[in-house]
Amino acid sequence: MRTQIEVITASEEHAEGIGKVVRDAIRRVNAKDYPPHEINRLVSNFSTSNILDFLKQRLTIVAMHDNVVAGTGALQGPEIKSVFVSPDLHRRGVGSVLLGELERVASKRGVQELVVSSSLSAVKFYSALGYVEQSRKFFGEEETVVMIKSAISPSP
Ligand SMILES: CC(C)(COP(=O)(O)OP(=O)(O)OC[C@H]1O[C@@H](n2cnc3c(N)ncnc32)[C@H](O)[C@@H]1OP(=O)(O)O)[C@@H](O)C(=O)NCCC(=O)NCCS
Repeated sequence: MRTQIEVITASEEHAEGIGKVVRDAIRRVNAKDYPPHEINRLVSNFSTSNILDFLKQRLTIVAMHDNVVAGTGALQGPEIKSVFVSPDLHRRGVGSVLLGELERVASKRGVQELVVSSSLSAVKFYSALGYVEQSRKFFGEEETVVMIKSAISPSP
């Protein structure tokens, strides 16, 4: 079943909601693929104050469901960053809508190839949406899968 959402550009007022979704997803989903110390490091990386900094560096969007942040994603140059959906709403199309919106913005900005350092947990998600595995990249002990999507079609 699809979930009714509205996708908007994030601002400071969404920082707490973004943090809650991200930390929840890391603890409940990514924890299956990474050791506890790595999960703790990732969770602390997404403190509200760090998110406020990220908002200044990246175009960040949120999916709103019943006036609550249900998912988020960001674009920094040609790079997709931090796509997270509230675990209670997984497999209902929220992540696909967020990624589609980031691709639309990237295309408008003239980006022709998008790259993402996918968590091990999200590889099937990105594959389903046309991203192809290139290599592995480590951030400290955090293993990620570098995936790209080429020929992002320009908007009319
Ligand atoms: C990855 C994530 C954002 C996907 O969000 P989502 O809203 O559940 O994704 P969608 O419902 O749009 O899924 C689209 C398709 O991707 C694939 N997919 C998504 N999650 C999958 C999973 N766990 N296993 C297998 N395929 C999956 C499916 O083909 C799915 O289509 P279907 O449900 O019709 O079969 C979400 O699982 C998440 O927050 N994960 C934890 C955080 C994370 O690792 N984020 C990536 C950081 S780089």
